[in-house]
Amino acid sequence: MTRAFPDGFIWGSATAAHQVEGGNVNSDFWAMEHAQPSLFVEPSDDATDQYHRFADDMAILSAIGLNAYRFSVEWARIQPEPDVWSEAALDHYQRCVFACLERGITPVVTLQHFTLPRWVARRGGFHDPEFPDLFARYAERAAGRLQGVPIWCTINELNVPLLFTGGLVKGRAKHPDRYAAAEAALGGPIHGCFVFADETRLKTIGVRAHRKAYDAVKAARPEARVGLTLSIAEEVAEPGGEATREARLRRHYLDFMGDLGGDDFIGVQTYTRVTSKADGTAGPREGAPLTTMRYEDWPPAVAACCRWTWAQTGAPVIVTESGLAEPGDLRRGDYVEEVLTHLQAACAQGVPIGGYFYWSLLDNFEWFYGYAQKFGLVAVDRATQRRFIKPSALRLGAIARANALPA
Ligand code: BGC
Repeated sequence: MTRAFPDGFIWGSATAAHQVEGGNVNSDFWAMEHAQPSLFVEPSDDATDQYHRFADDMAILSAIGLNAYRFSVEWARIQPEPDVWSEAALDHYQRCVFACLERGITPVVTLQHFTLPRWVARRGGFHDPEFPDLFARYAERAAGRLQGVPIWCTINELNVPLLFTGGLVKGRAKHPDRYAAAEAALGGPIHGCFVFADETRLKTIGVRAHRKAYDAVKAARPEARVGLTLSIAEEVAEPGGEATREARLRRHYLDFMGDLGGDDFIGVQTYTRVTSKADGTAGPREGAPLTTMRYEDWPPAVAACCRWTWAQTGAPVIVTESGLAEPGDLRRGDYVEEVLTHLQAACAQGVPIGGYFYWSLLDNFEWFYGYAQKFGLVAVDRATQRRFIKPSALRLGAIARANALPA
């Protein structure tokens, strides 16, 4: 039996600007990270300094054996104030794209990965009825300017705030002082920050923003492939949990997928499976192995979510994120190979999966959790910013080079 992936399968790794660049001072997250008391374990600060080390990181990615890099451009740098567009920031990102192309790496650019410029958040972010127009203008500017990007993601995980809703309510009750400090730092309600946006606004204003940005990128770059990404868990049910599962499928995913079928692809981002139980709760299966993010370690989930997304939408999919957090590198290599074994089988059965991006290239700033969660193929000593390639990176690289699983 052949274990090859389809010709042209893309082998990449992913990051997001705020998590790796450092010094993203005009963003809403930066403001909230420095509020006291803070919602964050620690602030992002210099992160992994990728703003100054982009080309070096591409040399590492290429040496590992990967051929694509998904990264985000930062709206807060490109448009730090409503009337200010930074040509220097656009130049910087153009140099990043060239740094990829020079090494035969396909650049995949995300326009919005959680962070917003402070001024956008202050207006209400995804709650602002003008948000779709503001976002489309930014998309037009970025896509009009950046040459050489064949694949664009508009919004990263438009549905991810749903995963925070419960936490938001509980968190506010438990730490009202932290929320108050974050709002004072933002200069507006917490929902101005994307990850705290209300689900009804995501499904209306958010979907409209995606559509307008899609059109803006297509107008500037008709040859580019454009889509958005969703956070999708494999949803299963124990006996008696079926209704909970159905409700989760609708609320978390299907309501967002309505008109995505016309997109060039859907980015599937899968980290785990979630089991709905008879008591109406949902989470990891009892006794299952957990990652340090407390997600069930369940590699078949990624292929299952690709099949399901394709069946629901008819759109081709790309695994734009998949990864595992652990303190060292003991499980990651096997985990990735198991994920890929299931993906290869799905490809062989005709599921249109265009590529696989491991999250993440580097150990980086894991949002509210700070730097303790280690997802990277490459470790970073943040005191010196030295990079250390982990063994799992070389295993993934060998599969990528061969475009096939080991015999
Ligand atoms: C996000 C990343 C995040 C990763 C791991 C995804 O939801 O897009 O920014 O670091 O999951 O938690």
